[in-house]
Amino acid sequence: MSNIAEPLQGSEATNVAEHKKYYVRFSLSERIEHWIFITSFILLGITGLVQRYSETQISKAVVSALGGVENIRLIHHVAAITTMLVVIYHIGALGYRVYVQRARLTMLPLVSDVISAFHAALYYLGIRKDPPQQGRYTFEEKLEYWAVVWGTAIMAVTGFMMWNPIATTRFLPGQFIPAAKVAHGLEAVLAVLSILIWHMYQVFIRHFNKSMYTGKISEKEMLHDHPLELADIKAGIAKPLVTPEGERKRRRIYLPIYSVVAALMLVGVYYFIGYEETAISTVPPAEQAEVFVPFTPTPLPTLAPTPTPPPVTSLTWEGGISGLFETKCVACHNSSSKLGGLDLSEYQTSLRGGNSGPTILPGDAENSLIISIQSAGGHPGQFSTDELSQVSEWITEGAPEN
Ligand code: HEC
Repeated sequence: MSNIAEPLQGSEATNVAEHKKYYVRFSLSERIEHWIFITSFILLGITGLVQRYSETQISKAVVSALGGVENIRLIHHVAAITTMLVVIYHIGALGYRVYVQRARLTMLPLVSDVISAFHAALYYLGIRKDPPQQGRYTFEEKLEYWAVVWGTAIMAVTGFMMWNPIATTRFLPGQFIPAAKVAHGLEAVLAVLSILIWHMYQVFIRHFNKSMYTGKISEKEMLHDHPLELADIKAGIAKPLVTPEGERKRRRIYLPIYSVVAALMLVGVYYFIGYEETAISTVPPAEQAEVFVPFTPTPLPTLAPTPTPPPVTSLTWEGGISGLFETKCVACHNSSSKLGGLDLSEYQTSLRGGNSGPTILPGDAENSLIISIQSAGGHPGQFSTDELSQVSEWITEGAPEN
């Protein structure tokens, strides 16, 4: 298919003006339709996905930025209604072009599209040298169009089931409602991904196709993407031959019929959105309320309750001093885990002391290590002031065993 490039070079060489030529690809009404559709699609995608993935940080941020889930659902419903209106308009415009203007059905999938798809695959694999020659709509564009038709139908049916669960379960089993929710969510993910990957690639990355902004396409682009359509245009057979009288006659038939059909579809939309009361109207919206929360700060870090040692009956080891050690010190200072080399579980070992030598100097409380360490405070195990003075007194008395 080297002829795709060669005539281009030829026309460049011979006729520059010819090369600068533009062809109208999309009329203003088609572009406006597409832009409304884009807007409602983006709104539906955002407000739908944040409901489907409501636990993610970004969803929470979007929901609170748009003022709560009630607003999210409202926007979703308004965008859904907009989409339904676009569909009704699209059906009307399509019928008008086909019936009144006798336009060719250029969007219909044909066997040649399957062949083009295989051809393109071989081209991308480097097996064939040139891309397939295609007409007004390439197989890629037809795929996208019919994917939108199919996807919108799924979204409308499953959306209806979620919007009107009671009406749905009059005809179908109850499991259809959660099933509709799953299908609606997954189809949404599929649609968003295919727009982000497939459509963005086709219209922005492969090469920036401006025809949805300007409505026009250059001769060069025509030659590359739609050579068969260009050939038809040049041959004068792209546009059907219609007489003004014939068109007028068909319009007189078409417009009343479409008006009735459109009116019926609008009634359908009205029932779609108004048949049942939804959570938006039945569940009271979130409100700001004052709650009674008394200010009772908890001291931090929270300490475990201190055990109380048994009362000291006489100032001897047996009379209760051992009980003070037992409760406050022995957890760390015992025969198996002698922290600081100190074992305070027995009378003898307590007098022996730890790594720094004797802990208790009978008769000399002031110079006993145990008193100085405990008076300094901040030890992992602390006597209370009362307990400390009892121990101190016991040492002054000579630290008797009993
Ligand atoms: C939570 C564990 C823990 C508790 C409970 C504890 N201690 Fe200690 N104690 C230690 C550690 C650890 C050391 C060693 C500190 C060092 O060597 O720097 C130590 C060292 C000591 C020493 C110095 C020993 C030496 O010879 O160097 C004395 C005296 C002592 N503790 C007394 C007590 C007394 C009295 C109690 C009870 C009121 C007590 N400790 C409760 C952990 C504890």
